[in-house]
Amino acid sequence: MAAPTIKFLNLTLLIFHILLLSHGTSGDDIVSSTLDSGNSITDGEKLVSAGASFTLGFFSPAGVPQTKRYLGIWFTASGTDAVCWVANRDTPLNNTSGVLVMSAGGSLRLLDGSGQTAWSSSNTTEASSASWVLELLDSGNLVVREKIKSSGGRTLWQSFDHPSNTMLAGMKFGRNLKTGAEWSLTSWRAKNDPATGDYRRVMDTKGLPDIVTWHGDAKKYRAGPWNGRWFSGVPDMASDFKLFSVQMVDGPDEVTYVLNATSSAFSTRIMLDEAGVVQVLVRYATSRVWKPYPWLPRDVCDEYASCGAFGLCSVAASSSTPSCSCVEGFNPVNPSQWSGPSGGCRRDVQLKCGNATETTDRFMVVRGVKLPDTDNATVDRNATVEQCRQRCLANCSCVAYAPADIRGDGGGSGCVMWKDNIVDVRYVENGQDLYAKLAKSDSDTRKWTTVAKIMLPVLASVLVLTTAGVFLVWVCRLRGKRRSKDILTKAILGYSRAPDGLGDDNIELPFVSFGDVAAATNNFSEDNMLGQGGFGKVYKGTLGQSIEVAIKRLGQGSGQGVEEFRNEVMLIAKLQHRNLVRLLGCCIHGEEKLLIYEYLPNKSLDFFIFDAGCKYLLDWPTRFKIIKGISRGLLYLHQDSRLTIVHRDLKPSNILLDANMSPKISDFGMARIFGGNQQEATTNRVVGTYGYMPPEYAMDGAFSVKSDTYSLGVIVLEVISGLKITLSHCKGFPNLLAYAWSLWIDGKAMDLVDSSLATSCSPTEALRCIQIGLLCVQDNPNYRPLMSSVVTMLENESTPLSVPKQPVYFSYMGNQGTIGENTSSSSNGLTVTTLLEGR
Ligand SMILES: *[C@@H]1O[C@H](CO)[C@@H](O)[C@H](O)[C@H]1NC(C)=O
Ligand SMILES: *[C@@H]1O[C@H](CO)[C@@H](O)[C@H](O)[C@H]1NC(C)=O
Ligand SMILES: *[C@@H]1O[C@H](CO)[C@@H](O)[C@H](O)[C@H]1NC(C)=O
Ligand SMILES: *[C@@H]1O[C@H](CO)[C@@H](O)[C@H](O)[C@H]1NC(C)=O
Ligand SMILES: *[C@@H]1O[C@H](CO)[C@@H](O)[C@H](O)[C@H]1NC(C)=O
Ligand SMILES: *[C@@H]1O[C@H](CO)[C@@H](O)[C@H](O)[C@H]1NC(C)=O
Ligand SMILES: *[C@@H]1O[C@H](CO)[C@@H](O)[C@H](O)[C@H]1NC(C)=O
Ligand SMILES: *[C@@H]1O[C@H](CO)[C@@H](O)[C@H](O)[C@H]1NC(C)=O
Repeated sequence: MAAPTIKFLNLTLLIFHILLLSHGTSGDDIVSSTLDSGNSITDGEKLVSAGASFTLGFFSPAGVPQTKRYLGIWFTASGTDAVCWVANRDTPLNNTSGVLVMSAGGSLRLLDGSGQTAWSSSNTTEASSASWVLELLDSGNLVVREKIKSSGGRTLWQSFDHPSNTMLAGMKFGRNLKTGAEWSLTSWRAKNDPATGDYRRVMDTKGLPDIVTWHGDAKKYRAGPWNGRWFSGVPDMASDFKLFSVQMVDGPDEVTYVLNATSSAFSTRIMLDEAGVVQVLVRYATSRVWKPYPWLPRDVCDEYASCGAFGLCSVAASSSTPSCSCVEGFNPVNPSQWSGPSGGCRRDVQLKCGNATETTDRFMVVRGVKLPDTDNATVDRNATVEQCRQRCLANCSCVAYAPADIRGDGGGSGCVMWKDNIVDVRYVENGQDLYAKLAKSDSDTRKWTTVAKIMLPVLASVLVLTTAGVFLVWVCRLRGKRRSKDILTKAILGYSRAPDGLGDDNIELPFVSFGDVAAATNNFSEDNMLGQGGFGKVYKGTLGQSIEVAIKRLGQGSGQGVEEFRNEVMLIAKLQHRNLVRLLGCCIHGEEKLLIYEYLPNKSLDFFIFDAGCKYLLDWPTRFKIIKGISRGLLYLHQDSRLTIVHRDLKPSNILLDANMSPKISDFGMARIFGGNQQEATTNRVVGTYGYMPPEYAMDGAFSVKSDTYSLGVIVLEVISGLKITLSHCKGFPNLLAYAWSLWIDGKAMDLVDSSLATSCSPTEALRCIQIGLLCVQDNPNYRPLMSSVVTMLENESTPLSVPKQPVYFSYMGNQGTIGENTSSSSNGLTVTTLLEGR
């Protein structure tokens, strides 16, 4: 559909790109967002919403011949790859002579070439004399509304009331209990076949509201009962879904929810795919590519009733198989196997089911679960939890209860009572408590075994932890002492005092002979190897008598010609700054290309900040110095050298430390040089390290100096907290950014500071750094500061700081959307980064 991005690849390392924004409609007919009654749209014509976000038109899915034509709505930027609504999904036209007619009465009819109706919006014609207009709104909603907006602006029909397989922001999902209207999703039959598929996702209102995915007439997945704040099985809906918020209406007349987009920098759609998986798809505003994040099912425990009646499903962290257990007081019906729904658990001791006293039966609490299916449960929203308990105790058929609403103090309110059995219970993080009824005799004996079961491991681990703690401190002290001695005694080459500003134009880069390099590295012996990665291997060597160097031997297939290599080398050699690693020389020998760098003995930043012992070696003044040093090095790359250079792979393992613990940025293997007035470029080969890449680069390949700003922000937060961005869970948050933001917004930012800094930390400096870090990781590159501002803000305490917005993109994603894990070795000082194919 849209013209492909025009790429202009310079054969040297320069890559120029025309911005992706150039998808245009320039060559097309002038298009409108409205159609008056009496008019029509033929195949080939379109409606485009006012803000151009959505297009209505005829299409055939990719790979399908034009003998199957559909009328649909798609995201303009992504073309028919992202169709979100189809009118005639089960009645395709067999050629391109279809036409959409808007009648005077306000009904829509899709006619084939012979005038037969293939699809219509309604059978009834509106009697009123109002005049109607069809409009495609910028939300993706196609509406038939009264032409004169002032007279109430009634809407006669809207596509949002007839969803296909996709939910968009602003669209309702659920049921109107009064009118019987239903908003649900139905999957396509196949990726390129919009026909009604096998999966349906509906709001189930039999018990508590629940979202259920049906496969034919069998329940497949269930989100769990609505508990006033979230659907019981997906607690992260409330906390992690920062790209949109969910507005739930749970009333007597209507049970619906609406997604509300929270960031205009992204488009989001939720799709029920042809395999029944609910995918959250996210697109960066300027990109046409959607990144899918499979949301539900997460794992095998989301399969409906996978452990049968009274079974509890849990997934071991490292395994993909469900592990079923029984509610306390129950045992497997068939102990040898867990045979899905037919298996399940059976009560050990039958309920006494006597009078409403606690002398006969009791409750056992099952903590942290998705509540069971409530289809056959009794719900009373007015009861208190205590009333609920009494009622369940008194009623023979009640087997379990839970509060219907978890809001409010004292364990929530309302009452759900299950009878006969409970199914589809799984453990989830932030799950709810479920109270299962047991015979008293059974629960009594069980109480003590449970106490023992819980207390013994706790006691044991307390003991182990205490002992281990003492031991750890001792080891780290020891290691710490050894390292500081190293730092003091080791010397480095005297290049660190090179003047700031542009290097000497006449610099002669020494070309070293291959023989010398081979000799320096002991013929590239394994013993001398410092690290290895996609670009080649790095060796330690000694040139001449005593000059220690790091030698990077580029891989054979690097594909770069000798002349380009020479240019790159000369260019990098001219960069001289105390916070950049110096390139000392190079060597070209046939196919062999080698780069010779200064050798830094103190390893890289990651070695210190993430190590339980070594982090104590970097006190706050040193860390602050490191943050300022990296920023100055970047400022030089971005604007103080004659060129504009984007590093593109900034991360702690690429920050080397010299003998004075001053930082030096290394590894320019992926740096790009911008010419003239160029501000931004794109690449279709996204390289770098996930976590440090800004969203527009990870998703779209677009990079600019602001990409480095983002990476710097991540590094700053890591240096302060000692926590890695790549951890997929960070103190109960999806990652470091979400955690840092949460502390900052709660006014508890100092809690982010690593405990190793407790004694040395200056709160004012640390708080400034955290705020600057958050400013650097803004989703929108325009909100990130330039390096010149960052340096000013860091060095001058009186410079006012702006207030950051919440970084939502990666915070929400966690690290699930990993493009590819970067494997780089940093044991040595020079890192080699593995190429990642972006798309
Ligand atoms: C579409 O169907 C009509 C009638 O069923 C037929 O006359 C016509 O040839 C078909 N067109 C194509 C392209 O198959
Ligand atoms: C397209 O198909 C319809 C029937 O679906 C037929 O009446 C019409 O003649 C066809 N048009 C062409 C150009 O083949
Ligand atoms: C239109 O009427 C037909 C039969 O009269 C019915 O099958 C169809 O569902 C109706 N369509 C709508 C949109 O009401
Ligand atoms: C979405 O949220 C914003 C701010 O929270 C609010 O103003 C707006 O009305 C919401 N939109 C919908 C459709 O609920
Ligand atoms: C229930 O209580 C009544 C009296 O309050 C007593 O007569 C009856 O035996 C009790 N039933 C059981 C099953 O304990
Ligand atoms: C609810 O009751 C019906 C009819 O007895 C039964 O078929 C169904 O499996 C029950 N559902 C649950 C979740 O127990
Ligand atoms: C619950 O309480 C509300 C008002 O407090 C009342 O209107 C409603 O009828 C009650 N519902 C039931 C089932 O008792
Ligand atoms: C006991 O519970 C069942 C189902 O939860 C309900 O149908 C029945 O009316 C209750 N009986 C009493 C006496 O409350």
